[in-house]
Amino acid sequence: MIHEEANNISEILKENSSLDEDNNLTLRPRQLSDYIGQDKIVETLKIAIEAALQRKEPIDHILFNGPPGLGKTTLAHIIAHEMGTKIITSSGPALEKGGDLMGILTHLEKGDIFFIDEIHRIPKTVEEFLYPAMEDFAVDFIFDKGVHTRTHRYRLEPFTLIGATTRSGLLSSPLRERFGITRDLDFYDEKDLIRIVKRSSAILGISIEQDGTYEIARRARGTPRVANRLLKRVRDFAQVRAQGKITGDVAMDALALEGIDESGLGETDRKLLKIIILNYKGGPVGIEALSSTLQIETDVLLDVIEPFLLKSGFIIRTSKGRRATEKAYGHFNIPYKKELGLFEGTKNKKRV
Ligand code: ADE
Repeated sequence: MIHEEANNISEILKENSSLDEDNNLTLRPRQLSDYIGQDKIVETLKIAIEAALQRKEPIDHILFNGPPGLGKTTLAHIIAHEMGTKIITSSGPALEKGGDLMGILTHLEKGDIFFIDEIHRIPKTVEEFLYPAMEDFAVDFIFDKGVHTRTHRYRLEPFTLIGATTRSGLLSSPLRERFGITRDLDFYDEKDLIRIVKRSSAILGISIEQDGTYEIARRARGTPRVANRLLKRVRDFAQVRAQGKITGDVAMDALALEGIDESGLGETDRKLLKIIILNYKGGPVGIEALSSTLQIETDVLLDVIEPFLLKSGFIIRTSKGRRATEKAYGHFNIPYKKELGLFEGTKNKKRV
């Protein structure tokens, strides 16, 4: 009886707030009404979910594109929760062979959500099995390749594929075109990040002042995952050094210790900017050269580090490579000399 009651309480907590399947506190919102930011995307999803529920059909296939930590996976879980269906998750690199994908597809139940993270990394040969699966809810088994080739079409239950990618440009067009809803997630503004830090502090029972919330939000690189990570580090610092209370000063000291500066740049960001400015005279420099100087894989530079530096105007991308902007020079108090443009350069050149 007591056990049953405890189960009920945990079910209620799970339903309304922040316990995951294993009863761990999670900062991820579980329903759309708790989701902060990305307002237009949330609105689109609300409509699509309600319409699909009314028709008793699975929701259309959805592709989310955007840098890591902005909520692609969270949204997939929320959609499954709101549709009242199961979510089965995999990732591009995990689907090495056609059989890996077939195994999952043939076990999907009606309305299930199949979530593929890093969908741009699915091998081409595997990707081709997805086309009929997405379009006709069927897969074609091929026997006896060659002159005696035979195929058998196997019917699947209607399901929803949700793909997440940091680089939708790498998706083949046949795959991209089979998604009914495609959305780019953008970096969050400070106002939304403040709301996220407040919400997470309430869930974790952290005592935090307005200034502390603001310091964390503005250094979070426009990214909820970063905001929540910083919040946890600042909480540790406050607990050990400041009687558990996060004030503006405590947050500033804790974040300085983490190597996060006033603009939210970390050690790697600063290294990258300084390399462009000092080693390459401000650029342009190609991604491969940066990758080998920094000893960081180009994919990590492209997907994780560069998007925020571009968005916040520390670098620009030109056809010849990356350039540091005046803002980047200003960040390090290095004098910025505006390079002569092609037009000015030609105009001033002596004609011989
Ligand atoms: N935690 C992480 N991302 C969030 C979001 N977008 N809204 C609310 N809480 C979050």
